[in-house]
Amino acid sequence: MTRVALAFSGGLDTTVCVPLLEEEYGYDEVVGVTVDVGQPEEEFAEARETATALGLEHHVVDARAAFADLCFASVRANATYQGYPLGTALARPVIAGAILDVALEHDCDALAHGATGKGNDQLRFEAVWRASELEVVAPVREMGLTRQWERDYAAERDLPVEMGNEGVWSIDTNLWSRSVEGGELEEPSHVPDESVYEWTEAPGAETEEFVVTFEQGAPVAVDGEAMDPVALIEHLNERAGAYGVGRTDVMEDRLLGLKVRENYEHPAATVLLNAHEGLESLVLTKEERLFKRRVDDEWAEKAYQGLVDAPLVGALEGFIGETQSKVTGDVTVRLEGGRARVVGRESPYAVYEAAFASFSTEDVGSITQADATGVAKYHGFQERFANRVRERGDELTADREDQG
Ligand code: ARG
Repeated sequence: MTRVALAFSGGLDTTVCVPLLEEEYGYDEVVGVTVDVGQPEEEFAEARETATALGLEHHVVDARAAFADLCFASVRANATYQGYPLGTALARPVIAGAILDVALEHDCDALAHGATGKGNDQLRFEAVWRASELEVVAPVREMGLTRQWERDYAAERDLPVEMGNEGVWSIDTNLWSRSVEGGELEEPSHVPDESVYEWTEAPGAETEEFVVTFEQGAPVAVDGEAMDPVALIEHLNERAGAYGVGRTDVMEDRLLGLKVRENYEHPAATVLLNAHEGLESLVLTKEERLFKRRVDDEWAEKAYQGLVDAPLVGALEGFIGETQSKVTGDVTVRLEGGRARVVGRESPYAVYEAAFASFSTEDVGSITQADATGVAKYHGFQERFANRVRERGDELTADREDQG
């Protein structure tokens, strides 16, 4: 008796995988697993209904809390990839890990996904799964299936898929972002109309302000109201989405080298990333910030690859965690014109004293204005010296050439 756990959404790809895993791959039983990372309720309804119609053993796992924690780790790393806050990328290792747990608990021998051979998700899923002893199979990729073949096969087999109702675009939604690709959006010059967006309103003239509180780099409250990570993200998606915050339209470089045109919506991510960086700008030194940018970029790159468990990521988080111990305080954010702008910040760790920065002739500490005279004399010394020497060098060279 062999059993295979399939990452199951109830969509066309994963639905055709069910009979194929039995008939073409020879597994005796298929176990469907749907992992909740904050998709809309309809998606679970679709998965449940399809599973029932197929007579599939079906498990739904709530991984929202684990996913929200990873989203907050990405905030501490100010993480974006080519402008995108990594929602799909961050969700994949969480989903893959949850499916692996179900597979092990329910005596499965193998793991399967319905991803194609072109995208990033196959790599992100398998990076997690291949650390186990279980077999890994990918019917859509391995059998070279096309959407048309799948549609014909589903019709022939009378599989429970809603024909022609797959929508114009391919959409991936979770707590952190909603991604839309395909259809007419595949033409990079095509300007998307409002129908592409579901989480965000077209930006209008209204504005709104609120305060986000951070503790050690993690958002913990909005306007003084404490919220757990899932609730806080949901709250800000609604609130900032109403002001058109968090739309990105990118030509994204996928892991296998292909470019893809993606449209994303991520209101909460935009608010939290902006607010977090705003607070870091108050509490970290210039050098910490400069160096952290490099660390953050590496973190985001590994996250895009789906490799958040890489040893490098742990090491990067060692540095990030050290800096975040001071990223505590309040940030005032204003939603305006589709943007989430930091308009105020305060922290007990502010590397800032109004008396030092404001233009005043009074002495600060034991330093007097006149102390800067020596610094001003030295500042740019090497550059001035180099320019003079080089001019003279050019003259000497020209003279030598005249004589020669
Ligand atoms: N390209 C993005 C990524 O790899 C997201 C793709 C989401 N999928 C979709 N069908 N819209 O992270």
